[in-house]
Amino acid sequence: MPPGNHDRDGFDTREKALNTDATPQQQSAGPATAWWTEAVIYQIYPRSFADANGDGIGDLPGITARLDHFVELGVDAVWLSPFYPSPQADAGYDVADYRDVDPLFGRLADADRLITEAHARRLRVIVDLVPNHTSSAHRWFAAALAATPGSPERARYVFRDGLGPDGDQPPNDWSSVFGGPAWTRVTEPDGRPGQWYLHLFDPGQPDLNWDNPEVRAEFLDVLRFWLDRGVDGFRVDVAHGLIKQADLANWQEPQEILSGNEVDKPRPPMWDQDGVHEVYRDWRRLLDSYDGERILVAEAWVQPAERLARYVRPDEMHQAFNFEYLTASWTAPAQYAVITRSLEATDAVGAPTTWVLSNHDVVRHASRLGLPVGTPRPNGIGVGDPQPDAALGLRRARAATLLMLALPGSAYLYQGEELGLPEHMTLPDEVRQDPTWERSGRTERGRDGCRVPIPWEADAPSYGFGPTDASWLPQPPSWAEYALDRQRDVPGSTYELYRTALRLRRAHGLGRGGLYWLASGDEVVSFRNGDVTVLTNFGATPVPVPAGAQVLHASAPLPDDGTVGQDVTVWFRAA
Ligand code: GLC
Ligand code: CA
Repeated sequence: MPPGNHDRDGFDTREKALNTDATPQQQSAGPATAWWTEAVIYQIYPRSFADANGDGIGDLPGITARLDHFVELGVDAVWLSPFYPSPQADAGYDVADYRDVDPLFGRLADADRLITEAHARRLRVIVDLVPNHTSSAHRWFAAALAATPGSPERARYVFRDGLGPDGDQPPNDWSSVFGGPAWTRVTEPDGRPGQWYLHLFDPGQPDLNWDNPEVRAEFLDVLRFWLDRGVDGFRVDVAHGLIKQADLANWQEPQEILSGNEVDKPRPPMWDQDGVHEVYRDWRRLLDSYDGERILVAEAWVQPAERLARYVRPDEMHQAFNFEYLTASWTAPAQYAVITRSLEATDAVGAPTTWVLSNHDVVRHASRLGLPVGTPRPNGIGVGDPQPDAALGLRRARAATLLMLALPGSAYLYQGEELGLPEHMTLPDEVRQDPTWERSGRTERGRDGCRVPIPWEADAPSYGFGPTDASWLPQPPSWAEYALDRQRDVPGSTYELYRTALRLRRAHGLGRGGLYWLASGDEVVSFRNGDVTVLTNFGATPVPVPAGAQVLHASAPLPDDGTVGQDVTVWFRAA
């Protein structure tokens, strides 16, 4: 096989009879494979998806009422960000009870109903698991505060004495991902200033001690709780953070938001420690004891790709998010390099590659790609920040999406991207809720701009997000034009671009295919996957589609001369 090309053992890339009526879990182009190896998985951010009771916060009944959206769009599965009881210090990634639903989002029975109704539509359901930390409102943390230093209650978390004669200095120099120190001092039950506890994120998110067998047993039980309720998998939050280097050595470097580790730097003592893998082997054994193909997906900001691939070895997780892909520059060489590297790294361990462009932690790709090429990924965009070129951003986002959805492996979509939704970039700072904004001393705007409730109907209150005008973050007036009802059945709309792409992806078996590079220059990337040829032009010079080719799909209308313009992706079948 030519270098950089990718074929998957046992995967047949020859043309097959096509059945475009295939239901989400019954693809027919190519041999049967496990669903997740090629699935398109849609991320639901519950507080911003659909609000059934009109309080301005999305909820589980709202999602259940809109499940047909996923069928119409043509995805295989949904992943829900946390909906568990939580003080919402970090929008629910601070879990107070892993076995229930926050009243904000509904009740446990609503989760059961959502799972049942999704399954009735042949949609899989993945829930979010947050094992690195609990909420400070978790009963375990309350017990730890009420207990004394050295107690079993404290041993579930990372408590240490402070440095200095009075112990008033934190135990090491680690900083929180959200800004400020990673340690907070507690008041002991006798009223005196006492020990410190570690929180790599918000003080409301104390890190658990994964060297403690009680913590491990508890999470196996939490997994069972949701597996028994029928979920098809877990997205594992901060999967690279559970184990810390035993000596909690100083690190000096600030923790950039979700930066993980850089390729050419030593590995930080809080991320990607070898011990995490044992945890996931235990979990995999448990999942394998259940029927169906239940999966584990790692959120691990780990580089390089070979290091990330360790999370998806055959006895560990099934997938890991490919953040190197998300952060790659919009140039032909960068895209070629990241695609090749990603495929090689996961091929080496026999796992499917994943692809992702947006999620609830990053600036939406329709806006990110409107910044000058080479701009480092911003942590939020607000009033006074350089504003992206909206039209260019959307044009590139459509091209990037079409490139992504043609790649073999599994792809993740984030709610609203199927509408071409931009970041909310003029959100008033006073309404920001991401702890990053305050903890960074108001220097990092953070993630609220990608979390704004999404528009369904142009002329309805809250654009159809809920029955009232209420919306926990304000929606910009310009969003009427992005509403689903303005795009459905409108040729050329971003929504129809996604629907067609997902239909063709399924029909041509692209997710289970292989990748053969045809061109990788300074301005163009082109590859073949099965009977589909994909070409993205990053440069200003128009590129002709080969004579006689049948164009299947394009991210922008092609001019009459049939050439592919700048920032356009085209799918075609060669003559
Ligand atoms: C993950 C989540 C992010 C959260 C953090 C702490 O990175 O995606 O939203 O703030 O973990 O739980
Ligand atoms: Ca609600």
